[in-house]
Amino acid sequence: MASRQPKPLVAGNWKMNGMINSRAEAARLAARLDKARPKPRCEVMICPPVTLLTTLRDTLKGTGVKLGGQDCHPLESGAHTGDTSAEMLANGGAKAVIVGHSERRADHGETDLLVQSKVLAAHRAKLLAIVCVGETETQRDSGQALRVVGTQLKNSLPDGISAANTVIAYEPVWAIGTGRTPTPDDVAKVHQHIRRHLRRRFGAEGEAMRILYGGSVKPANAQELMSVPNVNGALVGGASLKAQDFFGIIKAYIPGA
Ligand code: PGA
Repeated sequence: MASRQPKPLVAGNWKMNGMINSRAEAARLAARLDKARPKPRCEVMICPPVTLLTTLRDTLKGTGVKLGGQDCHPLESGAHTGDTSAEMLANGGAKAVIVGHSERRADHGETDLLVQSKVLAAHRAKLLAIVCVGETETQRDSGQALRVVGTQLKNSLPDGISAANTVIAYEPVWAIGTGRTPTPDDVAKVHQHIRRHLRRRFGAEGEAMRILYGGSVKPANAQELMSVPNVNGALVGGASLKAQDFFGIIKAYIPGA
């Protein structure tokens, strides 16, 4: 069964950072990857602000580094000022889109049902949906972490999804941008819980679906976090902005590095 699992994925979420100069960081990353021997055994992705998608598409052409969006509207087009559809992201070069990030859930009041409609939109546009779930600190402290994550999965994931079109990202809210991370044991417990949910609901597809860990992943902790069972890659915020740091995380997937 493990052999069905797609390659691990290391995705950089630039959030609302990165002006046009960020192209240089993307080019630096591409150069590091090009020189890497052996090649990393993971897929590499950058999810820049939408204004940089087409620029980075040109910068990263032929490097194997994929691009993703950070959010999408459920609909294909229409009178929705300030929004971007999944089709538009695909048109700009994205192969994936992050949906349900805790910052969207908190800043924009996004519900699980809205997130589910965005997953469907991603699939309609043939994008990989990277679906984020995770508990707050209060929820963890009151022993609710597994229950909260289970409910988010139940309500955010539509039926009939596959390992090829969906990735889950477990991101404890209290670990995002704080420098704090759960212990490997705690990560293992949540990822096992997620795997069970996926397996029960989606069978072999759920067994093969990648589950990323996100929240203060850095070069110094990547190796340890990425070797936890059922961790199939990382969603990286702050440390993805500098090519050197991002490459330091990708190194967890370079044998002998
Ligand atoms: P961080 O963010 O790596 O800066 O903690 C992770 C994320 O929000 O995806």
